[in-house]
Amino acid sequence: METIFENNETLVIEILEDLSAKQKHLPSKLFYDEYGSHLFDQICDLDEYYLTRTELSILNNNIDEIVNVFRPNTLLIEFGSGSSVKTKLLLDRLNNLSGYIPIDISEEYLYKSSEKLKESYSNLAVYPLAADYTKPIDIPIIKDRVERKITFFPGSTIGNFTKSEAKDFLKIIAAECGKGGGLIIGFDLVKDREVLLAAYNDAEGITAKFNLNLLRRLNREFGADFDLSAFEHIAVFNEEDSRIEMHLTSLKDQSVRIGEREFTFLQGETILTEYSHKYTLGGFKELSEDYFTIEKYWTDENNYFCIAYLSVKLK
Ligand code: AVI
Repeated sequence: METIFENNETLVIEILEDLSAKQKHLPSKLFYDEYGSHLFDQICDLDEYYLTRTELSILNNNIDEIVNVFRPNTLLIEFGSGSSVKTKLLLDRLNNLSGYIPIDISEEYLYKSSEKLKESYSNLAVYPLAADYTKPIDIPIIKDRVERKITFFPGSTIGNFTKSEAKDFLKIIAAECGKGGGLIIGFDLVKDREVLLAAYNDAEGITAKFNLNLLRRLNREFGADFDLSAFEHIAVFNEEDSRIEMHLTSLKDQSVRIGEREFTFLQGETILTEYSHKYTLGGFKELSEDYFTIEKYWTDENNYFCIAYLSVKLK
């Protein structure tokens, strides 16, 4: 499966810089090649990984109220649309949208799922956009009348951004949706440490495979020679920053080549591969309040996950 940045020079520079930092790290968007996306689908079905099923249950249980925030002639934009499973719950009930713009990094997957959507929703204008939405993008101008834009950003992907990246991203969405616009967003809530740690250290070891797949991808696509058996997955909860951090720990002193460059690893040294921030409602309000007002939110009986509807603040 092609991702739109594959072998892109800027990405190579980013990888080399990230591995040269004091705390070595790698961009988490690299997780999602074909095998990685398949592993992520498996993660979503794990007993320990409560996020996906909890978000789906919140959507299902509150769908009438959620679709109520839409007015006729709304343009629906979705970042990281994947197979649009959650969006279909909205689309099933919205028959007067101006259009739907699914945005995803995996070009082939995006076009395939857009074709399927066009078959299922014959009255819906679908405008797929292949883009790396962690970088600024141009939303296409569409022909139908648009009175309002609403962005859908489910899945707690906002949690994978640093706080400052998340704020920048929210600023872009607010500017894009503009006056009268809104955002429906899913984010993971702070909860018992044990529940959080189990979700990212599953017993079957699928998350470990997902994490190590980053190194496999560097070997395959970027000329690296990582020995996957010499690194181990760990996920810890950083209480101070309220986030799960995934790392790959070097099991010995070793050196690894990426193209012409050599990187040394001490035994026990880690590569940080992902942040997954967990918010309180207050924390999320603080994160978003420069650009948005939280109008409504929905959660589950355990208060594990939250879907919120935010309106763009007028400046
Ligand atoms: C995509 N994202 C919201 C997932 C998360 O929970 O942060 C990615 C993931 N990483 C490990 N397991 C799932």
